[in-house]
Amino acid sequence: MNRPYIICHMVTSIDGKVTGDFLFRSECEMATEIYYEMNRSYKADGFICGRVTMEGSFTNGWYPDLTQYAPIEQEDYIPTKEALSGFYAVAFDPKGRLGWKSNRIVDEDPGYGNAQIIEVLTKQADPRYLGYLKSMGIPYIFAGEKEIDVQSALFKLKNAMGINTLLLEGGSVVNGYFLRADAVDELSLVVSPMIAEGSDKPLFTDSAVSDYKLKEIKQYEKGVVWMNYIK
Ligand SMILES: NC(=O)c1ccc[n+]([C@@H]2O[C@H](COP(=O)([O-])OP(=O)(O)OC[C@H]3O[C@@H](n4cnc5c(N)ncnc54)[C@H](OP(=O)(O)O)[C@@H]3O)[C@@H](O)[C@H]2O)c1
Repeated sequence: MNRPYIICHMVTSIDGKVTGDFLFRSECEMATEIYYEMNRSYKADGFICGRVTMEGSFTNGWYPDLTQYAPIEQEDYIPTKEALSGFYAVAFDPKGRLGWKSNRIVDEDPGYGNAQIIEVLTKQADPRYLGYLKSMGIPYIFAGEKEIDVQSALFKLKNAMGINTLLLEGGSVVNGYFLRADAVDELSLVVSPMIAEGSDKPLFTDSAVSDYKLKEIKQYEKGVVWMNYIK
């Protein structure tokens, strides 16, 4: 395969929602615990999240003062494979809106902590943001003019960075882009026994009809079910 193998790993409600208050209620704790345990046990080369999820989970809205950075030409910045860590947090951030304070994820969970950040950008990113990323030692690649071309991004992640397997960990919007690009090879769904709000987002925004085969199903305590499908 000319791109990394992609496993979409998510916590969902019974009605297939992936955002909203249900995730933070005590009834969802068991599902979340299993989700993080599986995230670690997959031993993938890293994880992908959309800009909104990265902001909510890791950067918390901080942004650098770009006037301090010189603009840089819009070309990929990829250190040599030897200089790369082998464990990655891949941010789908088309406009370059994420402010990182380090080139690694800071998190106690070894499934996330110390992952080397990679920014996937489009030509909409401010050239001074590239100056900032480079000064931080954060690799970045370009894939598309306005929207990120998923296949082109994945081709670079595999061929220029040697990444073979990635967990796609939401949210709904980035998952939808991957589904429509026919780039979801496997689904790992930890289903919490709850119904979400009508306004919460589905597993895939703007989904397309797609068929999968059930590979495995497991029942856990407190009514949690894990469903594993492959393309
Ligand atoms: N249930 C779970 O397991 C789980 C896991 C993760 C997250 N979540 C939840 O998901 C929610 C966030 O999800 P979300 O759907 O709102 O957002 P998201 O998918 O995290 O991020 C969406 C943003 O990512 C950028 N993006 C991603 N792919 C792109 C592409 N191919 N082309 C252009 N832009 C692209 C865009 O950024 P710009 O807006 O900058 O253009 C887009 O608005 C949070 O509430 C979080 O709690 C749940």
